[in-house]
Amino acid sequence: MKQATKGIYQATETYSWKKLRNGAESIIFEPVKIGAWNLKTRTAMAPMTRCFADDETGVVGEDVVEYYRKRAADGVGLIITEGILVSPRAKGNPQVPGLYTKDQVEAWKKVTEAVHNEGGTIIAQLWHVGRLSHHELTLGYPPQAPSAIAAEGRVPRFRKPYDVPEAMTVEDIQQLVDQFAQAGKNAIEAGFDGVEIHGAHGYLIDQFNSDLSNKRKDKYGGDLGQRLTLMKEVTKAVIEAVGTDRTVIRFSAHKSDVPTYMWEDPEEAIRTFVEAFKEVGATLLHPSTMDFTRVLVDGKTMHQLVRKYWDGIIIGVGTLDPGTAEEALEEGTIDVAAFGRPLISNPDFINRLKNGEELEEYEARKHLPILI
Ligand SMILES: Cc1cc2nc3c(=O)[nH]c(=O)nc-3n(C[C@H](O)[C@H](O)[C@H](O)COP(=O)(O)O)c2cc1C
Repeated sequence: MKQATKGIYQATETYSWKKLRNGAESIIFEPVKIGAWNLKTRTAMAPMTRCFADDETGVVGEDVVEYYRKRAADGVGLIITEGILVSPRAKGNPQVPGLYTKDQVEAWKKVTEAVHNEGGTIIAQLWHVGRLSHHELTLGYPPQAPSAIAAEGRVPRFRKPYDVPEAMTVEDIQQLVDQFAQAGKNAIEAGFDGVEIHGAHGYLIDQFNSDLSNKRKDKYGGDLGQRLTLMKEVTKAVIEAVGTDRTVIRFSAHKSDVPTYMWEDPEEAIRTFVEAFKEVGATLLHPSTMDFTRVLVDGKTMHQLVRKYWDGIIIGVGTLDPGTAEEALEEGTIDVAAFGRPLISNPDFINRLKNGEELEEYEARKHLPILI
């Protein structure tokens, strides 16, 4: 039976997953070189916001060091951190960490050192939430967005309605691109092995990508290819700052405020995204979906459609179970399989898989308030 999802990222149900055909000999546990990294296994920890930083300073503590250290010790190949803010106005939840002050960088050094001591690899996910915020989280300023259109709904873990954002000027956009590049440099200074640009899930970059939130008349708006201009500029700047073999870019159709959103023509959209990534010299993609096995067009899933147009590295994710991940790795659709919720509830996830042990079911209410 497939792992089922209740609501958005709420819970995983009975883990009677498709088991690994090859057990401890599975391709999942093979070491692999992707980009600049020699990974212990073909697994990744998906980026997951946990809200355990100091709310005022955005600095992480010893609990966060231990949380990531354990996953590295377990044998996760690539740890992608929770979303980390590139600026104070990037914030959309309380207690989210940053990578724009000296203290933040110093605190992250402890995390990266602990992970490296376990032989692990860790990259920082760079995040700006754009309009999915409230001025009380963004220093009293309105949230930033491509256009002054409020999202529907309420800020998660804050429970106030999303504000009407401020449409960014061209100068604001240039500043944003610089902030992503600087955060990339800060990540390297903090000892991270690279970065992931959060271009998915309806946050700022994806707000530019989407016609739901981008009504601009300048070069940052228009048809899809044109709307991807900001994403291309950010990706190019981050690649220049840290190198293409250390830069992953994440993108998706679904939005955290509109989880059911799908492109009108998924194949054409994916082809346009891939063209944009090629144009700016990206080499590592992380297409994100809520359901890895969902067929979009012609019997093909999101990741299979990306593979049709992309020869580079693909990280697969989205309610993945080990057996499905094994198949997708074997058929070459993906190069690395990322797991999210199971890694929150099972710090020893990789070892449990290897030994064929039962997994602890993830429940938001039980697992989110604690770091284990
Ligand atoms: C608690 C939680 C926080 C998340 N935070 C982020 C985030 O900061 N950045 C991001 O790109 N995705 C985030 N996600 C999405 C995950 O990276 C992943 O794509 C999703 O959970 C599907 O994978 P899974 O089925 O293996 O859990 C989050 C998911 C959860 C459950």
